[in-house]
Amino acid sequence: MAIDLNRSLAWTSANAAENAMLDDLQANILKGHGRLHTANAFFKFDNADDGRAFLGGLASSVTSASKQLQETVAFRQKGTPGDPVLLVFLTHAGYSALGIPTNQTPTDEAFVDGMAARQEALNDPDKSSWDKHLSANIHAMILLADTHGENVQAALKLLLKTKSKGVVHLGTDIGLGMKSLLSEGEGIEHFGYVDGRSQPLILREDVERERDARDGISVWNPEFPLKTALVNDPGGKSEFSFGSYFVYRKLEQNVRAFKKAEKNLAKALNLRPKQAELAGAMIVGRFEDGTPVVLQKEDGINAPVMNNFDYKDDEFGSKCPFHSHIRKTNPRGDSGILGAPLEDERSHIMARRGITYGKRLTHPNSKSLTIDEMPTKGVGLLFMAYQNNIQNQFEFTQRFWANNQNFVHDDTGIDPVIGQGPSGGQACPVEWGGGEKTKKMKFDFRNFVSMKGGEYFFAPSLSMLKSL
Ligand code: HEM
Repeated sequence: MAIDLNRSLAWTSANAAENAMLDDLQANILKGHGRLHTANAFFKFDNADDGRAFLGGLASSVTSASKQLQETVAFRQKGTPGDPVLLVFLTHAGYSALGIPTNQTPTDEAFVDGMAARQEALNDPDKSSWDKHLSANIHAMILLADTHGENVQAALKLLLKTKSKGVVHLGTDIGLGMKSLLSEGEGIEHFGYVDGRSQPLILREDVERERDARDGISVWNPEFPLKTALVNDPGGKSEFSFGSYFVYRKLEQNVRAFKKAEKNLAKALNLRPKQAELAGAMIVGRFEDGTPVVLQKEDGINAPVMNNFDYKDDEFGSKCPFHSHIRKTNPRGDSGILGAPLEDERSHIMARRGITYGKRLTHPNSKSLTIDEMPTKGVGLLFMAYQNNIQNQFEFTQRFWANNQNFVHDDTGIDPVIGQGPSGGQACPVEWGGGEKTKKMKFDFRNFVSMKGGEYFFAPSLSMLKSL
């Protein structure tokens, strides 16, 4: 029996092979762990023996996909929160430092190079400007997550106590998730927008829930095959051992400058105060409450926040501009304009698992929030994503969509949220839904997100970690 990576997985009716795969796979890959408190701790190994002893000692505590999925059911049925989550990730340099033979080491080209070596291609800032712990030679990252911050702190303390001298702790990024005040249950990022709503759904049960309990799947199909995130783990101990490539990027957000620019854009577009939110929606592609701007010119469709849409009825970008963050990073068929089949376009989608970092005194959605209270640094997104192929998924999205001023049309401009490099500026329709003839106003919206470092990892199977 083999695992069919070309399909999504119905895990509640999994066969023996699929169950063996889930038992040996780390949690968080097929579905987000959902906890609002995390610690991403980074390590370097001075010698292979200490590194192996450290990770091998943790192996039996690593959360498996099976455990996570069973806990999800218990949470839905009885509200029982799951145990703290512990996950382990290795860099290519980490595999070498642990003395793992090359035939047991993942081979993705970008993974082998490491993120810093891809700086030029990604238009990333020079490594010298990165946070110190992220510019170091990272070998491993351990991700701890829980519903309570104290539990994460306690687990981190214990982790640092158990490590031997040959395991150097380089630093930790603390994640602190936030929930929307506008749309119940949805997570948000620091600019105040619902984030994480649109995901490739790899589990059949999640697709069914989307179809039956949310806004449906008739227009945008959120179902993606296992191969979106899974790859064979060459270091795994069975034919059912899988892992996933993992991108980590610390992205600092200048909230004050972004919100000022949003206001200026609203003024330039002559929007009355009640409509001012439309300016931000034309940058992000959704209103703060998650309403897709392609569906209407004001917020308010947020129970549930919709994801069953595409851009077929907006071929001139007069509802959702082509430059907007969600249209750039998931064009939902726009690549057809360039002759790319939908299946090719969909192959670039990755499983995003980011969390915000940095504390805010006033909630980003609070009506009383003043411009002066908005942070200019120290807050942002710990962008994390699992995938099968880093070049074809994360790098493709960042390079050929977000950073590309000529995607999907000439002079579209770069993604105003995450685009890096020469911009050319973007153009916003003066009249929402005005079609081809709508006048567009040129502006330059960028540099509100700064990359503070990151790395490419592999999330190995549990059997690989147990063999260390
Ligand atoms: C969606 C914000 C970084 C890729 C979104 C959404 C927001 C958002 C508000 C809409 C919610 C949703 O549809 O799930 C941000 C911010 C970022 C950031 C503030 C940085 C600080 C990135 C990066 C990438 C990325 C680095 C990839 C290179 C995506 C994708 C979607 C998305 C693929 C889903 C689009 C869709 O399916 O419609 N982001 N994002 N984001 N973002 Fe980001």
